[in-house]
Amino acid sequence: MSTAQSGPARIIRGHTVSFDADPHEAGPDAAVRAHSRGAVVVARDGRVLWHGDYARMPTACRELPCDDYGKALVLPGLIDPHIHFPQYRMLAAPGKDLLDWLNRFTFKEEARFGRKRHAAAAAEVFLDRLFAHGTTSALVFSSVHKVAAEVLFKAAEKRRMALVTGKTMMDCNAPDAVCDDPETGARESEELLNTWHGRGRLRYAISPRFAVTSTQAQLELSGQLLEAHPDCLMQTHLSESAGEIQFVADQFPWSRDYTDIYDRFGLLSPTSLFAHSIHLSRRERQRLSETGSGVIHCPTSNTFLGSGLFDIGCITRGEAPVATGLATDVGGGTSYSMLQTMGEAFKVAMLNGRKITGHEAFYMATLGNAKLLRQAEVTGSLDAGKWADIVVIDPEATPVLAARQELSESLEDVLFSLMILGDDRAVRATYVAGKRVHGRRPR
Ligand code: GUN
Ligand code: ZN
Repeated sequence: MSTAQSGPARIIRGHTVSFDADPHEAGPDAAVRAHSRGAVVVARDGRVLWHGDYARMPTACRELPCDDYGKALVLPGLIDPHIHFPQYRMLAAPGKDLLDWLNRFTFKEEARFGRKRHAAAAAEVFLDRLFAHGTTSALVFSSVHKVAAEVLFKAAEKRRMALVTGKTMMDCNAPDAVCDDPETGARESEELLNTWHGRGRLRYAISPRFAVTSTQAQLELSGQLLEAHPDCLMQTHLSESAGEIQFVADQFPWSRDYTDIYDRFGLLSPTSLFAHSIHLSRRERQRLSETGSGVIHCPTSNTFLGSGLFDIGCITRGEAPVATGLATDVGGGTSYSMLQTMGEAFKVAMLNGRKITGHEAFYMATLGNAKLLRQAEVTGSLDAGKWADIVVIDPEATPVLAARQELSESLEDVLFSLMILGDDRAVRATYVAGKRVHGRRPR
């Protein structure tokens, strides 16, 4: 007998697609569970109760209210493992390169997030925008201001969303309005962490911005925080642009390479995630691999800022493989859409002489990213017991997509065409913890 909370509440019908494994390793057919006439039964508490072929659904569920999306894909919600909340409206700022972009546009915009009213209003827009793009969970850089992280946590809590964020720590080489100092940064991070980490679906990420804007003292305190709270994530930036790499080599003359700086301060770990990580040497890949650290590929940002071409073949699938996530990196990234992000990742892979299949891209954006964020027990697939974070994607959402589907003969064809041609227009509905948070009820 089910309890009231774990009892069934609703059925979501459509072409269900959910990954059990990485299609690049297991092969596409073994990695995916797909049912062209599928169903997900959602419990009252917002978790998945059952997923499979509608014809095999327990008969007791037949009378439940049903959102029937017909031929549309019903997938686990997309997960964005690297995005900047205080950059939510500054996409398409024309910097010459990363450091110019930060200095001319980004720090000025982030300075506004010290004002609670501004940050609180922005948090509502930001999270709703994620939902409108089918993203149900994210690892987010907030601004340097404690209050901005607080309002973001509150807005995510209201939405019952699995959000991981943290106050950015930065104490040098930036305007005063976006700088803290090592002690304040560490103290405020710990206060936030004690309040929010593990509260509902929220978790904390220790967030030194990068070695350009942190002194040795701040990196050292960040490492101590991570050691004291190893179940928190740690996020930072690594090896994104040529100018940045030169800058940190000058600032930390004792370092062997960029990765070595973070390594010296204990910041490499199985819960550490390094955004960009484009220009890594063999030694750096080796250290990241052996410490279980992860890297995050941000293709629309890397092409927009001219940072470089992340080589998925070498970094993710090379002789020292490093677990790799796929992220938008808004606002250096040019789209909130994980579909457009997949498309750009495909093009960057092609420029490196590599390939990404539709199956591989959708795996990365769902279960793959959930694993990187250490939340695959509760998100990333439609398995019973996980939260019903779901996106419904219409493969015929636009005339161009609809015409393309006339040629599609397989699930790979459909996923591939969505990777290349899809964006937020294809997102018909988004559910978080079983509740529809974007899109209309189907007829
Ligand atoms: N490196 C340090 N800060 C940032 C940022 O805000 N965006 C990007 N793309 N790279 C960074
Ligand atoms: Zn970033």
